[in-house]
Amino acid sequence: MTEVNTVGNRIDTILTDLLARIRGVILDHRVTEDEYAAAKQYLISVGEAGEWPLLADVFLGSTVERLHSDALDVDGAIEGPFYIPGAPELTAPYVMPMREGEGGDVLVFTGSVAGKDGQPIDGAEIDMWQCDSRGTYAGIPYPDGRELPPQWNLRGRFRTDGSGDFEVRTILPVPYEIPKAGPTGALLRAAGWHPFRPAHLHARVSAPGYHQLITQLYFEGDPYIESDIVNGVKAPLICKLDKRDGPGGRAEFTTSYDFRLAAV
Ligand SMILES: [Fe+2]
Repeated sequence: MTEVNTVGNRIDTILTDLLARIRGVILDHRVTEDEYAAAKQYLISVGEAGEWPLLADVFLGSTVERLHSDALDVDGAIEGPFYIPGAPELTAPYVMPMREGEGGDVLVFTGSVAGKDGQPIDGAEIDMWQCDSRGTYAGIPYPDGRELPPQWNLRGRFRTDGSGDFEVRTILPVPYEIPKAGPTGALLRAAGWHPFRPAHLHARVSAPGYHQLITQLYFEGDPYIESDIVNGVKAPLICKLDKRDGPGGRAEFTTSYDFRLAAV
């Protein structure tokens, strides 16, 4: 017999409210028996495809995360499914691991890590991961069988200096599509919604005496900044991109962000 994990035992309260709201939607939109039958068949297909975690995270994960960040009063964001622990520790001057001639525009990312009181944090660790210029993460088996970047490509850990500052060279990530071959993608197509996330950098920022901050940084002007399919964008996480002439006259972008951690 299957038992339900009662985490905190609020099942009665939450289930009562959830059912009341779903029943309200059925009544408000006069859902037909055919539509109800199609919905049940769809839910079965999500289970058969093993996509319940994907579907839940696409539509609901960022809302749960919001509560977590709000409780600590920090600018966090969802971790997403592509984090891999144990990325290489970089040595200064920091350059993210990448292939010879890695595609995409160069990005010089500077910033700082401090407590919410503004106290700079010396030696804070920033564990950063991102996709390449084709929207692909290293180390992730994609269902479409695409060619993967080498292990740890565009994944690395680096630290702030004595002033709490850092600078790392990488490449500009690009918007990418969530997995769309299964029922989750089919639902988006049926609704007429695109499957894109805006370009972003992922970071886990940690230091002794502070809560680890898991967040994402986005870029002004991204075509999907207003319509992230996972609803993960928060205004304070949108960074400004500037363009300048880099070494050899190659154009490069710069951006900056100051991470703020909540004390334990
Ligand atoms: Fe991502």
